[in-house]
Amino acid sequence: MRLDDSRVLITGASSGIGAATAHAMAGAHARLVLAGRDRARLDAVAAGTGGRVVAADVACGTAALAAEAGAVDVLVACAGVGWAGPVTAMTEAAIDELLAVNLAAPVHLTRLLLPGMIERGHGHIVFVSSIAGVVGVPGEAVYSATKAGLTAFAEALRAETPVGVSVVFPGVVDTPFFERRGAPYARRRPVPIPAARVARAIVRAVERERAEVYVPGWLELPARLKGAAPGAFRRLAGLLA
Ligand SMILES: NC(=O)c1ccc[n+]([C@@H]2O[C@H](COP(=O)([O-])OP(=O)(O)OC[C@H]3O[C@@H](n4cnc5c(N)ncnc54)[C@H](OP(=O)(O)O)[C@@H]3O)[C@@H](O)[C@H]2O)c1
Repeated sequence: MRLDDSRVLITGASSGIGAATAHAMAGAHARLVLAGRDRARLDAVAAGTGGRVVAADVACGTAALAAEAGAVDVLVACAGVGWAGPVTAMTEAAIDELLAVNLAAPVHLTRLLLPGMIERGHGHIVFVSSIAGVVGVPGEAVYSATKAGLTAFAEALRAETPVGVSVVFPGVVDTPFFERRGAPYARRRPVPIPAARVARAIVRAVERERAEVYVPGWLELPARLKGAAPGAFRRLAGLLA
């Protein structure tokens, strides 16, 4: 799909991967709608990329955001929140926030924007998932579930719509994500990759109509092992933990 002059809505555009995607999409001459909660940070991104800013909390609904965005050719559903710790320590509100922002909002935005894409015969949807949604990360059970939900949703969607659907699975990315979830990234490896690298992969996924993309690419190996030999994968993960 050609991105030049396409109208691209990016959620989570005020920070990290979403902000980097805004820059990469601007480089591909797309017309942007930048969504997030923090208007000042959205304005700062828009100053460098052009495009329109829509401030909205997707945990409180997506209908107003979709209406303000207008006709959208490409949706990059990137807004997301993390939570680290055992599921038994989570409050109901924390679980609901993860489900709402990471899973329900992308599903609702798809429902609202897909008919226009089909009507115009021009559209693509990118879900920013996570390797956690493929392998299931201990201490991130609900987060992993929300990201796995996106993969299953995308798989079904691909079969029921003519519109392109991509799922991008980043590993560890250097963004404020960890600080915001209240638990900094503490491991030495894998080393966090720059958000711009994920952003380039998102742009390529749209341009080349890629169904699933791992960033960095070597993450596809554990994902394949988990799919082909889940018992061996669990034993290996146990040894590496
Ligand atoms: N960083 C990683 O290692 C990593 C790895 C795999 C996948 N991911 C995924 O990548 C995506 C982007 O994360 P990031 O690393 O770029 O984190 P980030 O820098 O913390 O950015 C998160 C973005 O989501 C937006 N957001 C959060 N809650 C929202 C809400 N209720 N309503 C609207 N927007 C909301 C934030 O907007 P405001 O700032 O305006 O609130 C922000 O723009 C997420 O889906 C995350 O799960 C990240």
